[in-house]
Parts: sequence; C-alpha cells; structure tokens
Amino acid sequence: MPDPTPQAAGTDMKSVPEVLAGDTVPPPPPYFDEGDTDPECRPFSKQSMLCPDYARREAAHLWREVWQMACRERALPNVGDYLTYDILDQSVIIVRTGEDEFSAFHNVCQHRGLKLVEGSGSLGDDGQFKCSFHGWCYDGGGKLRTLPRAWDFPTVEPGKVRLPPVRIDRWDGWIFINFDPDAEPLADFLGDMLPRHFALWPQAERHIVSHAMRLIRCNWKAALEAFLEVYHVPATHPSAGQFASDNAAKYDVFGPHGRMHMVKFVTSKGVSEQELVDHWIGMGLAAASDSIPRVPEGGRARGVLADYQRQQYAARTGRDFSRFSDAEMLDTLEYHVFPNFAPWGGFGTNLVYRVRPNGFDPHTCLFEVMVTAPDPAGEKPRDADLTIVPEDASWMVAPGMTGLGPVLDEDVANLERVQKGLQSDGYQEMRFSRYQERLIRNLHQRVDEYLAKGADGPAS
Ligand code: FES
Ligand SMILES: [Fe+2]
Repeated sequence: MPDPTPQAAGTDMKSVPEVLAGDTVPPPPPYFDEGDTDPECRPFSKQSMLCPDYARREAAHLWREVWQMACRERALPNVGDYLTYDILDQSVIIVRTGEDEFSAFHNVCQHRGLKLVEGSGSLGDDGQFKCSFHGWCYDGGGKLRTLPRAWDFPTVEPGKVRLPPVRIDRWDGWIFINFDPDAEPLADFLGDMLPRHFALWPQAERHIVSHAMRLIRCNWKAALEAFLEVYHVPATHPSAGQFASDNAAKYDVFGPHGRMHMVKFVTSKGVSEQELVDHWIGMGLAAASDSIPRVPEGGRARGVLADYQRQQYAARTGRDFSRFSDAEMLDTLEYHVFPNFAPWGGFGTNLVYRVRPNGFDPHTCLFEVMVTAPDPAGEKPRDADLTIVPEDASWMVAPGMTGLGPVLDEDVANLERVQKGLQSDGYQEMRFSRYQERLIRNLHQRVDEYLAKGADGPAS
C-alpha cells in the first residue's frame, strides 16, 4: 500500500527528506526507506489497557508466543555466567555455555519446583547449578548431574532429567527468548528491515553507560506508546519542544515492527542556530560538554553539532566517524521491535527502551531505559549495572541520567494520569492519529491479532 505522505495529506508536516537534503553529510539509504504497512485507522477499545482478562490473554497468547529481548550478550562475558529473565510468572535462566554459545532453560528445579536461581552469577568450578533445597545439581546444558541419595529415586535417571529448554536466539548483541517451541525463527520474525538498518550501527559494538528501571502505574502498552511518537513533545516537554519540532518526523511501519525518525535542530520558533547548539550541549545530551562550538554566520546548528559529535566520538573511541551523516550523529532514530523493545539507531546519545508487564496487573508495568555509547576501538567495556528508580524519585537518581531524567519524569507524570483517565466512564475508545501515531496503532493491532490467533487455536 502506498505510504500517504504528510505532504500529500495537506498537513503542515515538514518534509524530513527535504531537511536531510540540506545536511553537510547526507544520510545512507535506510533513512529513505518507506514502510510496507499502513495499520488500520480505527478506534481501539480501552479494555486492552484495563481488563484483567485481556492481560491474562496477553500472557497466554502474546508473551508465551513472541520473541522477546531477554538481555545483552555482554551481560554474560565468561563461559558459565548466567542471569535470569523474568516475565509475568515465568523465569528463564540464560547461560553462556561456550565462547559463542548460549542456552536458556526454565528456571525451576525438577524435584519440588523451587525457583532454581535468583539474579545473576557464575557457575562454580564444577559448572553446575545447585538447588538450595535438597542439592540437586544441573550442568550448564540443563541436565541433572547430581542426585543426592539417588537410591531413593528409582524412577529418576539423572542423565534423562533436565531443566526444560526455552528457545533462544541472538541478534546484534541482544539475546532473545521464546517460550513457544514452534515459533518461527528469530530472523524471520525480525524480517529484513531491522538487520539491514542496524548493520550500519552495530549494537554489539556499543556498551550501556546508564541503565535504570522504574515501576510505572500504567499499562505496559501505554508506557511504550509515549515513546513511539513525538506528537507529545511540544506540550509535554516545553523546554525540549522549543528545540525539536514534532513536525519534522517520519514514521514507517514494517510488518509488526516500526521506525520513527525525528530530525533534530529544525525549528521555526525564533530560536537561533547558536541557541540550539548551546541548549543541546548544556543539557548534557551531546557527546561531551566541555566546549561549545560556534555556528558561523549563515551556518546551521545541525552541521556544526554533527561535526562536534564526530570529533568527540573519535577522540573518545579512537574510531573514525567522518563518514557518518549528520542525521546519524544527531537525530532520534528509534526502532520499535514488537512487542516491547525499542533500540535507537545512529550515533547520537542513543537510548534503548524495554517495557514489561508487572505480573498480571494491567495497571502497572516495569519500564527500563538504557543509554548506550560506541565502544572504544579494540575494547568491550562492561555494561553499567541496573539502578532501580524508586516510585517517588526522579529518574535523575540513576547514574548517567542527569540530562534525560527531567524529560523522563515529564513522560511518567503523563502516564500515571493516562491510566487513571482510561478508567473514567467518560472515556471509551482510544483515538490514535493517522500518521504520527501509526506505530501505536500497529502495536495495538498486532497484539489484538496475537490474542485472536490464540483464541482460535487449541485451548490453553
Ligand atoms: S526442590 Fe530442588 S532439590 Fe529439592
Ligand atoms: Fe516524551
């Protein structure tokens, strides 16, 4: 279906390709890709955000059947390192079993059902998980190896009992799991667009410099939606909104996934090009803040800041960024990997979002923000530890979130009021816009499809 461009619709949207055409280094072809899907423009029932039964059906037919990002490969640097990934009432152990090999199992002892391990760690010299209850031990491949008082278990054969495996696969430094043994391969699920685009900015060559998670009192989809459009920026983030126009954004849907490109430092609100530079560096969102470049007479903030980013990243990493475009160095280029994972592309101050339901409660979720940076040449710095942000605290309490914290706080304040408003008798249907909220419509449509497919399938 042809993509209805905002210009064709006669709106006041700026043309992103036109802005890009004025850049000093033009962007590579993926920026100009058009999505292949235009999700239905219809009202959506608010019950998907509120209804405990809908949340239960999501648990049965979405989370049990979809590929989901569990962790980074880098979180398990050594053979024998393991961590747990929890979703709803399920827990999975992910373990590095070789230099380039990982396994995943249900995190439950096969004796009396104890949750086998908590958090993360490393297998000892014997390379085994030991259950703390009666001491059953499993090797890194999940097989039962040690059975204390084996004479008392005539029907249990150690080599034949194992932690039930969970599907595991990898993409660009991220580990995904899927509970459905019949699920399509991860590569098919991701499709062509994601690997092709991220080949330009490998996530496996980045490290996490800041990582925080907070419980938010809203449905998981509502939380994600706040990061799938920039329509809210002028009203919700008035200070940032002055410097980033919601009008210069392009939204593309590729199957279940999507991409949002917000062109930065384009404004028609009487802000000078130098003010754009000063503000960005002052917020601590540029690659560095120890010097503020000057915009030459007639120059553009975009070109000046892109050069600044190239120089700063080159100095910091020992790598050459000269071939990367202004858009890659500056813009927000956010990808939505269905259902709950959103990594940014390019080389700006890149974020990654992930949101999970908080158990079966449709009214709360666990929202994570990661800030990533390119690795220095020849190095693989370890990822930053996770900080849990208390509910009554600002995101600023997380190390490295100083510039972003106030912006995230503004988003969260909206979200908790959204969840309250959704419960009003005076509100029934969610109305998402045709263009700017198309990624959100796609999210709801695809979740509905998973649930409908599940309802048609065998009873669960
Ligand atoms: S429950 Fe694990 S050894 Fe008994
Ligand atoms: Fe926001």
